[in-house]
Amino acid sequence: MASPSSPIAVITGISGGFGQPFARVFSENGFEIIGISRHEPEIPIGHHIAADLTDSTALPALVEQINQLTNHVDVLILNAGIGLYDGWEEMNETELRALMELNFFAPVTLARSLLPSLKKVNGTLVTVSSVAGVLPVAYMGAYCASKYALNAFSDTLRAELIGTGVHLLNLLPGRINTGFSTRAFGSRTPPETPFAGSPERLARAAFRAYKKKKRQLVYPGWYRLLPFVQHIFPGFYDRASKGKWKT
Ligand SMILES: NC(=O)c1ccc[n+]([C@@H]2O[C@H](COP(=O)([O-])OP(=O)(O)OC[C@H]3O[C@@H](n4cnc5c(N)ncnc54)[C@H](OP(=O)(O)O)[C@@H]3O)[C@@H](O)[C@H]2O)c1
Repeated sequence: MASPSSPIAVITGISGGFGQPFARVFSENGFEIIGISRHEPEIPIGHHIAADLTDSTALPALVEQINQLTNHVDVLILNAGIGLYDGWEEMNETELRALMELNFFAPVTLARSLLPSLKKVNGTLVTVSSVAGVLPVAYMGAYCASKYALNAFSDTLRAELIGTGVHLLNLLPGRINTGFSTRAFGSRTPPETPFAGSPERLARAAFRAYKKKKRQLVYPGWYRLLPFVQHIFPGFYDRASKGKWKT
């Protein structure tokens, strides 16, 4: 059982590249952590729950385990996710469905199930989306679709929760060095970028955005320019989006 007086952060994808610094930053600021992933995280956290979030039949039991640990959630960070690098014509249907389970259905189910615990303490729901949720990228269409859907969920839920005290923060990271692309589904290898961000900086920026009750955070900040480029020069953008991949 978590301490009834501590602020509680529930974080999915706790064993991964963002999960670990999220846990560190929130712990340093007095939060007790309940973390979810299939594998045990390397850094010790308060409570780890092993769960496969692509298994929709296992989600009610996971919610029950969280509710047994705590009756309030101050911050719910829906962070677990996976990439898929393939064109629409070539991608594997099983991987496409697993991607949507992890990147869209699992966060939606967890958010809906834990809203009563967030409402008790005017908590914050943090969705970890991506710049790929506001920008089409060739050969990442399935991943883009999952994050566009997650953005729509976050932005509409925010409006519906006006007056409840629950705040929504949507994180839109660009490429960040976590090894994420090496764990992705699909057969293509994404092009390298020399401008990747750092997971620690993202976690600190996310904590500041949480404290300031921001609606959205794009990190690294220069990624904010890309949707304008796509909007103003769509043909050029499409050719560049395809052209950067080796065929
Ligand atoms: N890194 C980037 O460049 C980048 C950019 C934009 C957005 N994002 C988004 O940021 C989030 C975190 O990315 P990351 O770089 O930290 O990824 P990561 O290092 O690959 O970590 C992914 C996390 O998700 C968990 N996970 C994967 N499959 C799971 C499953 N079936 N059930 C339960 N947990 C599962 C993994 O834990 P287990 O394997 O132990 O289950 C791990 O803790 C994702 O939503 C990603 O889409 C990442």
